Amino acid sequence: MAIKSVLKMGDPRLLQVAEKVEKLDTPEFKSLIQDMRDTMEAENGAGLAAPQIGVGLQVVIFGVKKNPRYPDAEEVPYTVLVNPILKPLTQSIKEDWEGCLSVPGMRGMVPRFTKVCYQGFDQFGEIIDRSVDGFHSRVVQHECDHLQGILYPMRITNLSKFGFTEVLFPGETFMEE
Ligand code: NI
Repeated sequence: MAIKSVLKMGDPRLLQVAEKVEKLDTPEFKSLIQDMRDTMEAENGAGLAAPQIGVGLQVVIFGVKKNPRYPDAEEVPYTVLVNPILKPLTQSIKEDWEGCLSVPGMRGMVPRFTKVCYQGFDQFGEIIDRSVDGFHSRVVQHECDHLQGILYPMRITNLSKFGFTEVLFPGETFMEE
């Protein structure tokens, strides 16, 4: 287990399409999951995708616990999601602020589907099949975008709603994804 450094926007590895995981039952896969968890916790992140630590595999993790530092953050169960398939359950789209561990210190207003279904496997090979809305829906769309080489600034439709967190929201702290 180890805390890895998170790649930053501009690194070409963040723009690659990730490959499917073929085998879950390997020491390499287990240490990848542990490294991702260690890194997300060390960075106080709400989510992390494997490409962000330089591993081009279809693995994302996310989760938000109640934390007085982030009173507005909605709780999301800790989830390891492998080889995800994501489908919108509505055409309804909402814009809201997002940040990203690969774009540190910034926030932007990003349109996302309000309700999605995601399927895949957890780290033990158990099937995951969930329909979600709210921040849970936003964070899973953000993380799955990383597997397609898409960073949230590429989805911003109004670039006047993109800037430095300390300027946009003085004195506030946010979790990044
Ligand atoms: Ni991100």
